[in-house]
Amino acid sequence: MTLAPESRRTLPLVEVGPGLRHGSRSYATCHFRCANACDHPEPNTSENNHIRDEVGHALKRRTLFTGAAGLGAVVATGLALDPRAAAAAESAPTVARGGAARVAGTDDLAKVEFKPVAPNKRDAVVVADGFDHDVVMRWGDPVLADAPEFDVYQQTPEAAAKQFGYNNDYVGVLPLGKSATEALLVCNHEYTNENMMYPTGKYTSAQIKQLSMAYHGMSVVQITRGLVPGSWAQSSDLSKAVYNRRITATTPFQLTGPAVGDERLKTKQDKFGAIVKGTFANCAGGLTPWGTVLSGEENFNGYFDKSGSLDSRYTAQYARYGITGSGSRGWSEIDSRFDLSIEPHEVHRFGWIVEVDPLKPNEAPKKHTMLGRFKHEGANVVIAKDKRVVVYMGDDERGDYMYKFVSAGTFDPANTAKARAKNKLLLDKGTLYVAKFTGNGTADSKYDGTGQWIPLTSDTQSFVDGMSVNDVLIFTRLAADKVGPTKMDRPEDVDINPVNGKVYAALTNNSNRGNATTPVDEANPLSTSMVRSALGQPLTSASGNRNGYILELTADGDDHTATTFGWDLMLVCGDPSAPETYFAGFDKSKVSPISCPDNVAFDSLGNLWIATDGNVLGSNDGLFRVAVEGANRGQVQQFVTMPKNAETCGPFITDNNRSLFFAVQHPGESDTATFETPTSTWPHSDDFPRPAVCVAFRKR
Ligand code: FEO
Ligand code: CA
Ligand code: CA
Repeated sequence: MTLAPESRRTLPLVEVGPGLRHGSRSYATCHFRCANACDHPEPNTSENNHIRDEVGHALKRRTLFTGAAGLGAVVATGLALDPRAAAAAESAPTVARGGAARVAGTDDLAKVEFKPVAPNKRDAVVVADGFDHDVVMRWGDPVLADAPEFDVYQQTPEAAAKQFGYNNDYVGVLPLGKSATEALLVCNHEYTNENMMYPTGKYTSAQIKQLSMAYHGMSVVQITRGLVPGSWAQSSDLSKAVYNRRITATTPFQLTGPAVGDERLKTKQDKFGAIVKGTFANCAGGLTPWGTVLSGEENFNGYFDKSGSLDSRYTAQYARYGITGSGSRGWSEIDSRFDLSIEPHEVHRFGWIVEVDPLKPNEAPKKHTMLGRFKHEGANVVIAKDKRVVVYMGDDERGDYMYKFVSAGTFDPANTAKARAKNKLLLDKGTLYVAKFTGNGTADSKYDGTGQWIPLTSDTQSFVDGMSVNDVLIFTRLAADKVGPTKMDRPEDVDINPVNGKVYAALTNNSNRGNATTPVDEANPLSTSMVRSALGQPLTSASGNRNGYILELTADGDDHTATTFGWDLMLVCGDPSAPETYFAGFDKSKVSPISCPDNVAFDSLGNLWIATDGNVLGSNDGLFRVAVEGANRGQVQQFVTMPKNAETCGPFITDNNRSLFFAVQHPGESDTATFETPTSTWPHSDDFPRPAVCVAFRKR
């Protein structure tokens, strides 16, 4: 496309804001990723958390704890069917549950003794001594066989839709066939940063929007085992990589579940409310036991603008989802479905969990209405004792909630196409719940207590007064507000440990915690925390929960379908010298500083791996291993640090713990960064940064 010079844009698109903000994020990250969510009041204005908790406002500051939680029972039932747990069953000795003895020199990431990587500000991926890493896929690398080689000066939407998208987030790896040499890498491409992707003056405004829509979405990429054990690379012959796939902001999705056909999901282009074009703002995700991938549509609200007024029928609903019509991407310029004044329902068709079957490259991916609509971080599935499946999910907004879904049907473990097809329907029927946490007081020197999963709706019956099944599913946040759940500090990944069966939630931060609308409670106890402006600078106090928590949930009776659970604040993150920090009772002189946990994963021995986003301790973000059982419980050790201004995403451990995949998202994203003036050039293959997926493995 050729347009007149006057229609070409000038940089920067983003007005540079007032320096560092929430976490260590740049204004640019806030702008492009979450539509400056933190500049707006919390959309949750409900009275929940004004609190019937025994501790309540007395909890201003954490005391130091010495006790460690007891060991949980091992939940084995059904887990061997989970791809991750299958790996666990293969190699887990009975005594090692995330607390295995450390071994020097081994290539087993679950056991290896390593010297933690020191906090740093390098423009590099730094892995622990004795380990190496390779870049597997970069923004622009060809995915489909007919994709051209990436040329940053000759980008076209057609090529972009065949190349690896921008800002990789979730990472999942599925074995392919029986050869054990091939696998499928599945990634999310959460958002784009137009300031950094396009040479100034090279592309028109319309071209930029078409390009960015194509760089969003997801990728499926065949990878092949490398010569060094644990290493992987893209399979070289793309003509044979028949599962390779790009999903973009225009790929057709099938809506499934009870809300299909609801009036509020119908648009001019889709009179049946059944087919949605595209997915975007996909953050984290999870593998299902039937070999598909779930992915969360998160900050979708920022993609919609308005040419006139907002539809008054949806004033409360839009407000609760942060939908203001001030979306800055301007996609409505090329597609009117992003104009709320023209198409008030299109925005209701985002904010879902999507499911992609990597083995069916021609099958339309799904959007599951039964899993509710909110700012979905991700979704992780476990098979319960009775073979129903349970999905744990977080709504990543300050002061929002944690959810779970329990299926009506049961998982069929048969390795047949028929069983797989049946399993793929499990997320269409069942019950959606929201979590309420009750503290038991701090006399026990622990932030812990019990919890309830409050039912919101089944596929046939709503449990919320005045709301139908579809009301609950399409406007889940408003439904949850009515039943008294606990406001949390931005629930991100919520994942199930395949070895001990407990559930681990990353609560990344909340600068508002402790104010009038979001008071502290025992599950969210910090109203101040210690931060550092730069490495070498002293810690200073800041309001709210700035460094985040890891919360550990134990389903009652180790039954994930139970409506009650126990909980324990396992980690209060931060610099270990800060008094409020807590590492499950582990010696604080022997842990790495950690700030803003976001994505979590497990190795086959049940160690927890934590990726961070927005470190406020003066260092780059990183990836940490944490034992959750035994003498090492709470030992946080940094294994990888990120390049400048990058966030760590998607950790995924596979191949008998020899391969650690992770995504480097938004390297070099700063308020001053443009294509011509980058603040990072990682991975240093070009003179501009390229978000990429890496794999770390033992050096040979
Ligand atoms: Fe995309 Fe919740 O981070
Ligand atoms: Ca307690
Ligand atoms: Ca995230």
